[in-house]
Amino acid sequence: MSKKYRIAWLPGDGIGVEVMEAARVVLDALDLDAEYIHGDIGWEYWCSEGDSFPPRTIELLKNVHAAMFGAITSKPARAAEAELAPELKGRGLVYRSPIVRMRQLFDLYVCLRPCKAYAGNPLNHRQAIDLVVFRENTEDLYAGVEFSPVPRELADVLGRLAGPFAPFAPLGPDEYAVSCKINTKSGSRRIARAAYEFARTHGRKKVTIVHKANVVRATDGLFLEEARKVAADYPDIQTDDANIDAIGMWLLKNPFNYDVLVAPNLYGDIVSDLCAQMVGGLGFGCSGNIGEKLAVFEPTHGSAPKHAGKQKANPIATILAAKMMLDWLGHADMARRIEAAVAEVVREGKVRTYDMGGAATTMEMGRAVADALAPVAAFGG
Ligand SMILES: NC(=O)c1ccc[n+]([C@@H]2O[C@H](COP(=O)([O-])OP(=O)(O)OC[C@H]3O[C@@H](n4cnc5c(N)ncnc54)[C@H](O)[C@@H]3O)[C@@H](O)[C@H]2O)c1
Repeated sequence: MSKKYRIAWLPGDGIGVEVMEAARVVLDALDLDAEYIHGDIGWEYWCSEGDSFPPRTIELLKNVHAAMFGAITSKPARAAEAELAPELKGRGLVYRSPIVRMRQLFDLYVCLRPCKAYAGNPLNHRQAIDLVVFRENTEDLYAGVEFSPVPRELADVLGRLAGPFAPFAPLGPDEYAVSCKINTKSGSRRIARAAYEFARTHGRKKVTIVHKANVVRATDGLFLEEARKVAADYPDIQTDDANIDAIGMWLLKNPFNYDVLVAPNLYGDIVSDLCAQMVGGLGFGCSGNIGEKLAVFEPTHGSAPKHAGKQKANPIATILAAKMMLDWLGHADMARRIEAAVAEVVREGKVRTYDMGGAATTMEMGRAVADALAPVAAFGG
């Protein structure tokens, strides 16, 4: 009999494989009517097929309700070319991060990153931190419009149109590189609206718009202006804004002055790593890439090659990503059960992975959380 949900299961590379196995133990302990369908993604497919996000995986994602993703390994252009199978070398194949492509291809424009300090976690910067970052996920410096070497036509246009380009104009095409930061009004508005809607529906008091509009006037100026227009529709939510550099300092100093943060792609990436570090580091940072039709949930960390295959990685970030998926699918009851189980295991402190000062394996942590799941009745169904 077919299951209610089809969920793409994309372990990827390195510790991605191990943390996903541990998160699966927790999901399997719940009564979710789902089938989990493996999808190929990651470095091995770049090396052997010249594509880290093969067309068959793209097709799979068109036919699922949601996806869970582990992590991938990315390498700079020259290193990527060097590791291609001999028959693929010299064909002009260009490596692009599959997760960045996935976000753009499926218009997963919201990157939602909750950062909550669970009581008893020895890694908490302060107890009771509870921040939520909304990162724009498809535009900005991650748009993928990049030039290295820089074509003559582009240099000529920039020389004609942009006075500040003058010091770069004499450079040869391979003596510099250009990455375009592209921010749209509609893209800025929709991520701001997602942040304000979340604030309103989750009883949050304040949204902080993160930018650098005093220096990066065109793109960050547009982002700030559009976000402020959206803010006007939410008089019940307090609004403030902060420069990306200043907020790095203020968040550490006064984390309780912040609640929900909304930022363009790169600043959102940076600020959410900082927030994750304040609540336990990458082993606790979970993330949802959310669009209108599809959502892909993942830990924010990468493949951590030095820990791969050692059963050392903390799977809590991935388990919390599974919790976010359940919320998104409309199973708030199951999501609460997972979160309560994580909170219990952290509070008890008997099972801790290396990053928390313990020696538990990835799978031992997964099993501990699965064992701590309260019976359904305790959560009202
Ligand atoms: N979304 C993604 O898949 C993603 C994100 C970031 C980096 N990457 C890629 O991952 C590779 C490694 O990158 P990196 O080393 O800069 O970042 P990383 O996140 O993989 O690891 C950095 C360090 O953080 C710690 N860490 C990460 N996850 C942990 C966990 N679950 N438990 C305990 N400790 C953990 C480890 O000390 C690790 O060495 C690179 O190829 C990079 O491009 C992928």
